[in-house]
Amino acid sequence: MQRFRNRKYKSILPIALATLLILGTSRLVFDNLKNNKRVSIFRWRDWLEGSRFHSYIVNVFENEDDSNDNYEDIEDCNVFEGKWVFDNVSHPLYSEQSCAYLVKQVACQRNGRPDDLYQFWRWQPNECNLPRFNAIKLLKMLKNKRLMFVGDSIQRTQFDSMVCLLQSAIPEGQKSLTKVPSKKIFFAKEYNATVEFYWAPFIVESNSDHSTNHTVYKRLVKLDQIANHTKNWEGVDVLVFESYVWWMFKPIINATYGIPNDVKEYNVTTAYKMAMKTWANWLESSINPQFQKVYFMSLSPTHLWSSEWRPGSEGNCYSETEPIQGPYWGMGTNMEIMRIVQETLENVKIEVTLLNITQLSDYRKDAHTSVYTERKGKLLTKEQRADPVNFADCIHWCLPGLPDTWNEILYAHLLQDLL
Ligand SMILES: *[C@@H]1O[C@H](CO)[C@@H](O)[C@H](O)[C@H]1NC(C)=O
Ligand SMILES: *[C@@H]1O[C@H](CO)[C@@H](O)[C@H](O)[C@H]1NC(C)=O
Ligand SMILES: *[C@@H]1O[C@H](CO)[C@@H](O)[C@H](O)[C@H]1NC(C)=O
Ligand SMILES: *[C@@H]1O[C@H](CO)[C@@H](O)[C@H](O)[C@H]1NC(C)=O
Ligand SMILES: *[C@@H]1O[C@H](CO)[C@@H](O)[C@H](O)[C@H]1NC(C)=O
Ligand SMILES: *[C@@H]1O[C@H](CO)[C@@H](O)[C@H](O)[C@H]1NC(C)=O
Ligand SMILES: *[C@@H]1O[C@H](CO)[C@@H](O)[C@H](O)[C@H]1NC(C)=O
Repeated sequence: MQRFRNRKYKSILPIALATLLILGTSRLVFDNLKNNKRVSIFRWRDWLEGSRFHSYIVNVFENEDDSNDNYEDIEDCNVFEGKWVFDNVSHPLYSEQSCAYLVKQVACQRNGRPDDLYQFWRWQPNECNLPRFNAIKLLKMLKNKRLMFVGDSIQRTQFDSMVCLLQSAIPEGQKSLTKVPSKKIFFAKEYNATVEFYWAPFIVESNSDHSTNHTVYKRLVKLDQIANHTKNWEGVDVLVFESYVWWMFKPIINATYGIPNDVKEYNVTTAYKMAMKTWANWLESSINPQFQKVYFMSLSPTHLWSSEWRPGSEGNCYSETEPIQGPYWGMGTNMEIMRIVQETLENVKIEVTLLNITQLSDYRKDAHTSVYTERKGKLLTKEQRADPVNFADCIHWCLPGLPDTWNEILYAHLLQDLL
């Protein structure tokens, strides 16, 4: 089969999966905390071994008036190191039925998924506890503010998750979800708080920027052009960026740089680096770190080859019901891209917090939408569901599910950064 033949390109999406990207889908993440002197980064296995490494430090203080909150002191705690704990008491944080905004693509139970264990896992950092997500508290922090997620469809799922996490705390008539091209906007009236998703799968401009009509097959990225997007990001209080899967379709990509119509083929890693530089330049020229916070999500892993966690098998994420017990690092999680993100964030002259969710997500082979999803806007048919080799989506994630954990981690940071 095509996708087993070229093992050295494991980090690149198999062609069969490209269709998953076509109607608005996909994603990835990083997080890094940068102060001029103290730079904290994730350690990529051997890659960073022996090099300067500072543990990632998160100071989260819950010192708001809500006295019935648990006080979770995660000072000096690397929240990205830990394990998944089965906890059907505290999780999931909402149900499919309770969130009217939940989109078909990720509502796996409704789409026929027979098992629901994937909803019951809680991320437990080794050295601290994550603060319990408190929607009211977050809404208060976002009062008169805008929180915007920028990226591809995986980032959109994180936005959808955030909407579900927040909406239950808001009465009918006080909340709304609207779509305008390239954006989804959730608004909480009483708090004048806005949570948005902005479609920009490469962060910089590309021919895939149309919010619904875009293709991964003929990618053309404008590595030095970003203004069409950034005019939508100006002045946003909290920006959360992500971009990965769209880059990984093939090892080379058509792009322009400098001369507008001079299309050349670039090594994807080279192109990614140039795009990140363009983005970093915008941050430096436009972000006021006193009033604005910027986050970058590390890459979201894929589980396309079950032989990686079960040697000898030939499947994918389909029918997986439990997390991988670590240690585990999938081949689809590209170290070179991780390194570029880290370097970009080290060099940019404003603080960008890298949310290092890659490792914790890599364990979650059970959390993908698999065949309980739609493709090109239509739920999979019975026949398609019976053909997981061709139809399982091992890129996107169910909700409730893993992206809720990303938001619990983002929430822990916001408690630190916005209070
Ligand atoms: C990201 O977090 C994981 C889990 O804590 C850790 O193993 C990994 O080294 C981190 N990545 C980097 C690049 O620091
Ligand atoms: C939680 O899981 C335990 C162990 O599997 C089970 O005995 C219990 O009934 C579950 N509780 C709920 C509320 O699902
Ligand atoms: C509502 O929030 C927006 C930012 O999203 C802000 O520009 C505006 O001034 C706020 N309105 C009021 C009445 O505070
Ligand atoms: C989608 O975009 C392509 C190329 O830009 C165009 O030819 C096609 O008509 C568009 N389709 C729709 C439904 O708008
Ligand atoms: C920016 O958007 C405008 C209108 O949407 C378009 O005409 C222009 O070509 C875009 N700029 C670039 C560099 O793509
Ligand atoms: C780049 O574009 C040219 C012309 O459309 C095409 O022949 C080539 O296959 C493209 N390369 C990639 C990597 O997509
Ligand atoms: C593409 O980039 C990778 C990683 O930097 C490198 O190993 C490879 O040699 C490059 N390929 C080309 C054709 O430049």
